[in-house]
Amino acid sequence: MSEGGAKREDTARGWDVSAYSAFERERLQPARDLLFRALDLLAPGAGGAALDLGCGTGVMAPFLRAALPAERWELIGADPSEEMRAAAQARGLYERILECDAWGLARSEGKFGLLYSNAALHWASDHAALFPALMQRLAPGGVLAVQMPAQADAPAQAMLHRIARQLAPDRIPAQQAKRVSPAPFYADLIEKHSDGFAVWETVYHQRLMAGETGVHPVRAYSASTVARPVLQALEDPTLIAAFWAEYEAAMQLAYPLLADGGCWYPFRRLFLIARRPVT
Ligand SMILES: C[S@@+](CC[C@H](N)C(=O)[O-])C[C@H]1O[C@@H](n2cnc3c(N)ncnc32)[C@H](O)[C@@H]1O
Repeated sequence: MSEGGAKREDTARGWDVSAYSAFERERLQPARDLLFRALDLLAPGAGGAALDLGCGTGVMAPFLRAALPAERWELIGADPSEEMRAAAQARGLYERILECDAWGLARSEGKFGLLYSNAALHWASDHAALFPALMQRLAPGGVLAVQMPAQADAPAQAMLHRIARQLAPDRIPAQQAKRVSPAPFYADLIEKHSDGFAVWETVYHQRLMAGETGVHPVRAYSASTVARPVLQALEDPTLIAAFWAEYEAAMQLAYPLLADGGCWYPFRRLFLIARRPVT
């Protein structure tokens, strides 16, 4: 997609496809729940372009393809990360894959019958402007469906920032960026642009299994996503090693290991679906 010359957000760096895929089962459930509710808002017989924004490795492509008949729907992927696009491409299920982030899409001319985004838009800035702009990218009757982690207060995420900042205050900003706002914020943003919408939160009580690497499973989970910017900011291998040692100890306390080396990891997620009016 042409990105309209817009500067891309620096959220595409350093995705490790295999580390991310290690928790595919846990991450798939909310993605499928989101699709189920989105389909509910689409008119019977609807069709057009369906975009999987921040498609990652394309885990949802088989489910999107099964739910959206090829005679009526063109299935398109979009992701700013080269590694993720390559993995998505290998599935061979998207008709096209765009090199594009959320703001690139919001500023484009495209019109979509379904704009689906699972676990990606928390990486995008300025939600107050972004969500109304994404609604404008919907064709009449089109549906926006978004799921984002709402985990900032959970020990797994709060401790990331706290420990990193204690170790290297000059490298880690004082204020942790909290890009996902409370649910009513999104309801207020979307309501006036839609003729049907819902915003809700669900806590998934995930049973993480012990990994092969012997580290705490929550550490392994965080390392594949939310810890990436912190690690990039720490940069120095000695600091990173000290960071992981403290984080590991904190995770042992917050999410005690069970006899098999796994643990329970409650994970709160925010969902939003909205349909653009036909007229
Ligand atoms: C946690 S993965 C989720 C991937 C996929 N949607 C899934 O459910 O498995 C987040 C994805 O969002 C992409 N991403 C990062 N920043 C983004 C942005 N600003 N706009 C859209 N996608 C972004 C990343 O490259 C990554 O592939």
